[in-house]
Amino acid sequence: MQTIDRKAVLSDALKAFRDAGETVALVPTMGALHDGHMALVDEARRRADRVVVSIFVNPTQFGPNEDFDAYPRRMEADSAKLSAANVDLLWAPSVGEMYPEGFATNISVASLPDRLCGAARPGHFDGVSTVVAKLFNQVRPDIAIFGEKDWQQLAIIRRMSTDLDLGVDVVGCPTQREDDGLARSSRNAYLTEEERAAAVALPRALGSAARFIENGTSISEAIETVHAALTKAGFAPADYVELVDAITLQPLEKLDRPARLLAAARLGKARLIDNLPVLPAVAD
Ligand code: PAF
Repeated sequence: MQTIDRKAVLSDALKAFRDAGETVALVPTMGALHDGHMALVDEARRRADRVVVSIFVNPTQFGPNEDFDAYPRRMEADSAKLSAANVDLLWAPSVGEMYPEGFATNISVASLPDRLCGAARPGHFDGVSTVVAKLFNQVRPDIAIFGEKDWQQLAIIRRMSTDLDLGVDVVGCPTQREDDGLARSSRNAYLTEEERAAAVALPRALGSAARFIENGTSISEAIETVHAALTKAGFAPADYVELVDAITLQPLEKLDRPARLLAAARLGKARLIDNLPVLPAVAD
């Protein structure tokens, strides 16, 4: 595996792939790689001749009171995992290489970032859209793989990539879960042992509520069961629990199209997010 931290070297390495007629998949990450990321790498490997993984803890997607400094950085261990998974190229630019002095451009997708996680994290999705557009332009992949755990992020990146004609096929990969159902996340590392045991209430409550809605329980009643379960497990009041249109992310009052039930809530130092599909019954 080649590890590259300069744009000029990156474009030479990518040119060699292109000259050989090979397709390229990109897996953008912020490192601290866990099995969820490695599943994205496996998917990339299945779909393209060459796999590029980026590791960049992107400062512009962290708010002033967020965990940019504390965000786990494990370059050596990450690099060993990627190399063992036969990744072809690790793109690991410095902040200065990604945002040289004078950098002044912001990509802001309209409307999709305003609600859900965006409401509690102003500017977060502009930071994500801008860095992902830069990664797409730097690597020019045929496809890029993202986890479905960050459903709002995936919807925003799809919109941005389509709107800007970036020519990248944006692929969502199902959320990877621990044995008890907790979604894998680098932020699970912030949980104490006791909180880790309690955290499973989030996927369980979402799973029950999703089935309730599919079986005809009113959306508001089902959402109330999630709030109650989270409170009982020791979570702080949820930032949101919402049923939304899976593509536009607009809230739904009835289940008349493919939907997603999403939630975000704090448990101790960790802000956990999760989501599940909720599908209307198919008419006979
Ligand atoms: O999901 C992430 O890890 C990040 O938001 C991403 C897509 C790598 C952009 O920094």
